[in-house]
Amino acid sequence: MTHVAIIVNMALVPYVENSLPALSKLQNSSAQFRFANHDLRLAQDWKKLGVAAVVWDAAIVMCMYLEMGKVDLNGTLAIELGAGTGLVGIVAALLGAKVTITDREPALDFLSANVKANLPTDYQRSVVVSELTWGKGLERYPSSGFDLVLGADIVYLEDTFVPLLQTLEHLCSDTTVVLLACKIRYERDTNFLSMLKLRFKVEEVYYEKQRDIYVYKACKLPHRRDL
Ligand SMILES: C[S@@+](CC[C@H](N)C(=O)[O-])C[C@H]1O[C@@H](n2cnc3c(N)ncnc32)[C@H](O)[C@@H]1O
Repeated sequence: MTHVAIIVNMALVPYVENSLPALSKLQNSSAQFRFANHDLRLAQDWKKLGVAAVVWDAAIVMCMYLEMGKVDLNGTLAIELGAGTGLVGIVAALLGAKVTITDREPALDFLSANVKANLPTDYQRSVVVSELTWGKGLERYPSSGFDLVLGADIVYLEDTFVPLLQTLEHLCSDTTVVLLACKIRYERDTNFLSMLKLRFKVEEVYYEKQRDIYVYKACKLPHRRDL
């Protein structure tokens, strides 16, 4: 049995290999799902690429929520932030959205390979994979240019809260819907929700008990309040 220490979302978690199913599944070289009537197999590489190369529970719950059909995806212009393996963007595309799937530069090759491997040819035209580091180079993305912004497990690094909020404000028009699937691990995670509520109307639209994941829906407020 190997005893190691891994950093899970910036919290150092003591980890005995294969003893905690919730963590050991991150070590698998792939994760399989069936969403939108398609069998999906996402490659994972925790050891090489860390958090961006494994499928987090929040992504699974977001896909479950998208499948419920409460948000219209057909022909919707969507963007996914912090996409990691790209599961959410892939499922959104399979459900009819045109999706810009984004993450930081080091994650992009792995992300692109997963998107390519999991989308049938006729859906490939519906997606673009591109670099978006929150708060940086936002002018490369159309201001108020998306109907839907998706993010799964992207609220976990306090240093990114302000740039993440700036990014949401840049991408959203008054009618854009933001969906965030969140694991609330620490009190600081709720600080982001408090900041978000200064600029967006936020409501909890789903809670998945088994995985302890909340889905929040946010829409831009007409008047900005100071952070
Ligand atoms: C916990 S992972 C979630 C990945 C995926 N959404 C999922 O749920 O499986 C967080 C993701 O946010 C991305 N990320 C972290 N900081 C970022 C930043 N400043 N700008 C853009 N993406 C960032 C990471 O690269 C990673 O893919």
